[in-house]
Amino acid sequence: MDYDYDYDYDYDYEQEHDYGWEYERKEIMAVGKRFRIACVGAGNVGASVAQYCAEMELGDVVLLDVIEGLPQGKALDLTQAGPIRGYDSIITGTNDFTHLSGSDVVVVTAGLARKPGMTRLDLLAKNGAIMTQICESILKYAPESIVIVVTNPLDVMTYLAFKKLGVPAQRVIGMAGCLDSARFRAFVGLELGVSAKNVDTMVLGSHGDDMVPLPQYTTVSGIPITKLLPPERVDAIVKRTRNGGGEIVALLKTGSAYYAPGASAARMVQSIVRDEKQLLPCSTHLSGQYGLDDIYIGVPVRLGKYGAEEIVELELSEEERSALHRSAGEVRAGIRGLVELNVL
Ligand SMILES: NC(=O)c1ccc[n+]([C@@H]2O[C@H](COP(=O)([O-])OP(=O)(O)OC[C@H]3O[C@@H](n4cnc5c(N)ncnc54)[C@H](O)[C@@H]3O)[C@@H](O)[C@H]2O)c1
Repeated sequence: MDYDYDYDYDYDYEQEHDYGWEYERKEIMAVGKRFRIACVGAGNVGASVAQYCAEMELGDVVLLDVIEGLPQGKALDLTQAGPIRGYDSIITGTNDFTHLSGSDVVVVTAGLARKPGMTRLDLLAKNGAIMTQICESILKYAPESIVIVVTNPLDVMTYLAFKKLGVPAQRVIGMAGCLDSARFRAFVGLELGVSAKNVDTMVLGSHGDDMVPLPQYTTVSGIPITKLLPPERVDAIVKRTRNGGGEIVALLKTGSAYYAPGASAARMVQSIVRDEKQLLPCSTHLSGQYGLDDIYIGVPVRLGKYGAEEIVELELSEEERSALHRSAGEVRAGIRGLVELNVL
């Protein structure tokens, strides 16, 4: 039998990794499309999102940061872990915002965490300016993408991104509830000595001290935790969940959590690119649901290929409802802060 091999020995790495080539390939692959996930901010959280997305084989990853060399170095390091961890995602590190082009999902982790001596308004001013600039680039290079915001203060920054982008609200989603509920699940698992995988829960509200964990919707393999734990232990777990981020900051001394935040954002990416329709707590735009209007706050959302496809309204006790509204008051104060600063 005659074989007509047509080897191309002029393999050009640079050309192969050029955006144009990747995009072409994506377009022609009708089946098994490779998604492009951009992580804006290649710090601790951004790099973790990139790592988990690659390990879960969700698509090719672009790691973007303003610090020269940082995203390139991390991308190369993650690429070299691929053969061992069993993934072959193309991971590109860049300082060039044009590389956002063709992204299906953009995860924004760029920004500062609040440092000692910094007021909430200082943080709003700094991260508000960063978010504004990033939204301009998203609009320019990836206007069709679904945007997941991670930068704090989470609900306020997600609202800002929504306003700056001017795209349908379902395409701008904030990551917080996934993390808060993962913390809650982990603590319940530890308390009961059972697998946290068997624990299911829901956490509403803003990301911070005012979050609203819902013990009445928390179960272990279908059994309500209220039947497994006395009320004082449930209260203690709720309190620890509320302080979940603070507990880690106090231990680390510099910096804040990133493994669980990275994993939470990657889980949201997974539900979107695989159109899994997972019901996850996400910061989403409310227009009347839960008695709240024109605000971003954490509620259960069905996440699929169109983004936040449906908001699920749960029946809440009077106490839970007022806790949610209190939490919304905090978000509104942040939004007012942005207006004062002329960011919004
Ligand atoms: N929503 C949540 O649950 C949650 C959880 C953890 C952290 N966070 C927040 O995520 C953000 C990042 O945290 P981190 O630990 O990764 O911080 P980090 O300091 O490690 O990383 C932030 C990165 O953003 C980059 N950056 C700044 N401006 C940029 C711009 N204009 N474009 C691109 N990159 C830019 C910085 O160079 C830095 O590398 C913080 O605001 C933090 O508070 C949120």
